[in-house]
Amino acid sequence: MKTIVIGSGGREHAIAWALASSKTVDEVVCIPGNGGTARERKCRNIPISVADVASVADACARELACDPAGSLVVVGPEDPLAAGISDFLAERGLRVVGPRRAGATLEASKDVAKRFMEKYGVACAKSETHDDPAAAIAAIRRIGAPVVVKADGLAAGKGVVVAATVDEAVAAVESFMVSGSLGAAGNRVVVEEYLEGEEVSILAAVSSTPALAAAGKASIKPFVSARDHKRLLDGATGPNTGGMGAIAPADGVDEAVLARFRSDILEPTLRGLVSEGYDYRGFIFFGLMVTARGPKLLEYNVRLGDPETQAVLPLMDFDFAELCLAIERGTLADFPLSWKQGYACAPVAVSSGYPGSYPKGLPIEIDAEAVARAGAKVFVAGAVTEGATGRLVTSGGRVLAASAVGATVDEARRRSYEALDACRFEGMAFRRDIGLPGAAVSGTLGS
Ligand code: AMP
Ligand code: GLY
Repeated sequence: MKTIVIGSGGREHAIAWALASSKTVDEVVCIPGNGGTARERKCRNIPISVADVASVADACARELACDPAGSLVVVGPEDPLAAGISDFLAERGLRVVGPRRAGATLEASKDVAKRFMEKYGVACAKSETHDDPAAAIAAIRRIGAPVVVKADGLAAGKGVVVAATVDEAVAAVESFMVSGSLGAAGNRVVVEEYLEGEEVSILAAVSSTPALAAAGKASIKPFVSARDHKRLLDGATGPNTGGMGAIAPADGVDEAVLARFRSDILEPTLRGLVSEGYDYRGFIFFGLMVTARGPKLLEYNVRLGDPETQAVLPLMDFDFAELCLAIERGTLADFPLSWKQGYACAPVAVSSGYPGSYPKGLPIEIDAEAVARAGAKVFVAGAVTEGATGRLVTSGGRVLAASAVGATVDEARRRSYEALDACRFEGMAFRRDIGLPGAAVSGTLGS
């Protein structure tokens, strides 16, 4: 089978690697891919931008022309999903893993997501949506600090402010709604009650269409839990980032928490997907806060998480390509998910200056033998192959992650850091505490 992966991050490298690991997959085409997928077994990059989703769908159709129905396209990031890439791919007769545009609004609009949660009784924080800054500020004063202000639209991680004071929350409203700091994404805001607890990510496979629902075959299957570490520095200090590393499974997610997650969040979500009549065949990401009153849903993402994927996929004890086929064909209900015992840790190395501005084009050296000795896998994110020299050079803030599995958290951590220590580029920075208990919990509020 020929497969295509859309996207260019570390998550997409992990997806491409997982597909390439399947005996049924002959080739993985990555659009545009990165310097890691360029080097991965069975993988090949096509360097076109994913901004124009109709053109990308045309390129996929050309690539898969010899056997469109026997091929598979997996969409990594949210932007093309929100722009309807799955609809375009399906119109061209291609099989796609990724929700249609209607389902993707669960991530593309915080307001749509909150209304969905409330309508179907998904456990979440109380909230109000406002189009008018004065009304949003009045809501902030009513709820009181701490309080959370969320821009409605996609804002690349910059649209949420967890405000310790009313003034800070009011400033966020002014920045989003009056100054227009996020463009149209900030015209509408959700003002939400602050929840205290530890964050956990649960990724899940989903296969739900009206026809599957009518046949009683709509299905959602959660993966092992994971935890991202958002702050730049050890001890959950410093600015927020796209994610400095992940551990899977997350501590504190015992059977009782999972049971509440299933009854209060997972099952109502599937009921909602079915009732709304979405064609949702893809992945869904539950961003949870585990509070003293049980797990509450902070957000849906309509895709796999980054860097959670780099920790979760190495724990798979099943064929990822077969899972993707089951999602697309509607046979997920009969697909057994099983996981390796133990843990996976995936610390991320970033460019110096990240999450602010950083240099690009710096050569990366990876001691492949040392990585192999550690039993680890390096997933490349912000790095490309330099045209003239063929070298791997930095191109982004989050450059790569070293992912390793171990019987214990300590073993997974030791192996992953041994591999990260075998990677080098000028100014390379990373946290040393990914996966340690409490390493993801920040004592201070902040955006
Ligand atoms: P979101 O994009 O909605 O997940 O928000 C981004 C981050 O803001 C989350 O990962 C949390 O760290 C934080 N956050 C969002 N909503 C809340 C809330 N209601 N209470 C506390 N923290 C929150
Ligand atoms: N790790 C958070 C995300 O993928 O959105």
